[in-house]
Amino acid sequence: MFEIIDRLAQESNLKDGEFISLLDCNDTRVNEYLTKTARRVCDANYGKRIFIRGLIEISSYCKNNCYYCGIRGGNRKAERYRLTKEDILSCCDHGYELGFRTFVLQGGEDGYYTDEVICDIIREIKRRYPDCAVTLSLGERGEESFRKMYEAGADRYLLRHETANPIHYSKLHPKEMSLDYRKKCLFDLKKIGYQTGCGIMVGSPFQTTENILEDIRFMQELKPHMIGIGPFIHHRDTPFGEYADGSVELTLRLLSILRLVFPKVLLPATTALGTKDPFGREKGILAGANVVMPNLSPVDTRKKYSLYENKICTDSEAAENLADLRKRINAIGYEIAIDRGDSLWT
Ligand code: 5AD
Repeated sequence: MFEIIDRLAQESNLKDGEFISLLDCNDTRVNEYLTKTARRVCDANYGKRIFIRGLIEISSYCKNNCYYCGIRGGNRKAERYRLTKEDILSCCDHGYELGFRTFVLQGGEDGYYTDEVICDIIREIKRRYPDCAVTLSLGERGEESFRKMYEAGADRYLLRHETANPIHYSKLHPKEMSLDYRKKCLFDLKKIGYQTGCGIMVGSPFQTTENILEDIRFMQELKPHMIGIGPFIHHRDTPFGEYADGSVELTLRLLSILRLVFPKVLLPATTALGTKDPFGREKGILAGANVVMPNLSPVDTRKKYSLYENKICTDSEAAENLADLRKRINAIGYEIAIDRGDSLWT
């Protein structure tokens, strides 16, 4: 196993069976070596700097009905809200003061945000803060819509593919949704010029190790600038309310493997990881992550953006507690970088 890890670090690739055995390996010494190797490769590319992104959850309305997600359209118990242009801009004003230089606008697929509405918001953020990056995470849209938003000034787009296996995809989503279209969106985003992010939930219902291998192979084809992964966490008001959560250990292992396959990728230690483990973010960074995304949404809406149960939003993951987050990151030998934190390749 140690030799496999060295070769992965050297060549950024392995044979199918080798990836599978690494993903399945829970030997402590092997995992420590994997973590250390991934962290060394991340340090070689990004040094000791961790990038922060201010996450603004703009809407909990969603037309989709993904079986895992707490804000699925079919969840009658979900409390719905959407932020206006003014709400979003005041989040950005506050975030800029705090030191954020990337704003992530994330929301369910909410028809309120037409191209016109969202482009107007993007243009105003870029006018006020030309030194900031705008990342969108608004689900699937048409190629023309992606293009308009890019022309309005959006820099990056996050759209997790959720799983690269069509059968697995159909177990997580209603039949109206298609993996082919999801993948087309991702390739369109790259073609248009966005720094593009894909990703999965680790331990989502019915996921096998072979599925994760397929995800790695898909990512090698897409060559994303960013990869978001976090453990699946059940939400009681969804069809997967009784399913087991994904494992923190496997998430950390996959973070390290992804760092070695994509040495320069932007890899967040996600909120879901921080929710499942009080030191999830630190562990994620030490396993090769180099981004954290504190919550910059208005405090009274945070609880309503409930993708999964017990989602953290008020402690050091909250943007207003940046000092606390900084302490925690310093404590493991890293520092928060105040800049846009672009991908190292285009
Ligand atoms: N557990 C973990 N992550 C989830 N997401 C949605 N629902 C859950 C859940 N129950 C993730 C999806 C989505 C991102 C915004 O949040 O991967 O792409």
